[in-house]
Amino acid sequence: MTAPHAADPTTDPARRAEARSRLDRLCARGTRFLGSEYALLAGAMSWVSERNLVSAISNAGGFGVLACGAMEPERLAEEIAATQALTSRPFGVNLITMHPRLDDLVRVCLDAGVSHVVLAGGIPSGPVIRAIKEGGAKAIGFAPALVLAKRLIRLGIDALVIEGSEAGGHVGPVSLTVLAQEILPHIHDVPVFVAGGLGRGDAILSYLELGASGAQLGTRFAASRESIAHERFKKAFLRANARDAVTSVQLDERFPVIPVRGLSNAGTRRFLEHQAETLRRFQAGELTKEAAQLDIEHFWAGSLRRAVIEGDVENGSVMAGQSVGMITSEQPVSEIINELVDQAIDALIRQEERARHG
Ligand SMILES: Cc1cc2nc3c(=O)[nH]c(=O)nc-3n(C[C@H](O)[C@H](O)[C@H](O)COP(=O)(O)O)c2cc1C
Repeated sequence: MTAPHAADPTTDPARRAEARSRLDRLCARGTRFLGSEYALLAGAMSWVSERNLVSAISNAGGFGVLACGAMEPERLAEEIAATQALTSRPFGVNLITMHPRLDDLVRVCLDAGVSHVVLAGGIPSGPVIRAIKEGGAKAIGFAPALVLAKRLIRLGIDALVIEGSEAGGHVGPVSLTVLAQEILPHIHDVPVFVAGGLGRGDAILSYLELGASGAQLGTRFAASRESIAHERFKKAFLRANARDAVTSVQLDERFPVIPVRGLSNAGTRRFLEHQAETLRRFQAGELTKEAAQLDIEHFWAGSLRRAVIEGDVENGSVMAGQSVGMITSEQPVSEIINELVDQAIDALIRQEERARHG
């Protein structure tokens, strides 16, 4: 007979150990692919994902990814070496496909023995993927739709990230809930990692059960203790709710704006005014269409650095995902990872309880 006040099953060490091995089995493909203890990638974040954060994540059993951003090859080589000095665990390097020296950056990664190269910012070419693989590393790409996932697999990609519009930074139009349903049931050839809006381990578990091999998080790690982001940047994350992390607004379809999710501030409001003024000048014949488009694109130049490094969270670009609302304190990376794993284990035990007792 069950005691009227039975002990909380999530506190039973045997139940936890059992659930942990179930979780490990669900993540096995992801951890094998990454070579890490947990199938948790910390997505690359320009200015944020540097040697300290990346090594801290890999040392805590996750998989850190360096953000190359606009770095030149020499600077990237330096950052990779500095990261390798801080961790002996595997980590990846995120390269933006439209970087003018992409081939040189790939060479730098291969020469340094980087095990995984993440190609972001567009569909990478077959030759780049081939160069990475022939150099002994694994190539990871982003699939914003099923057809593109299939195309990347044909090009030889080793793993995919599907990132929903809930994410921080540059985003596509489709939420992770929908992307996961569109892609996970149909892609079995390579591991697929889910990203966007993930702040809790039980939510990650639900995607593992749908067939994901692991998850990628950015926002939660940006506000971690080891993140070098400015104090004011982290404070802005602690204050923000999910609804504060909005995508950039495009005023006129003739002048496309790449959607970026971040905290609304004076900068995002001024961006609207800037677009309106640029439009007015275009309509008055003061600017050509090309000049007007460039003017709009240049508005945010250097603004992520301004927010992350200089701490100007009013005028800079405070890129953040909707999961920002789940951040309540500046936690060490290891604590964040342990919390995510514990939440997944709790959820597995509760699931089993429901199956047993209804
Ligand atoms: C401040 C910030 C900067 C980012 N910069 C990059 C980047 O340079 N390259 C990239 O591929 N993704 C970038 N991202 C996206 C992250 O790698 C990751 O995929 C995303 O944050 C996951 O969603 P989440 O924010 O909901 O956890 C950035 C995200 C944030 C919050």
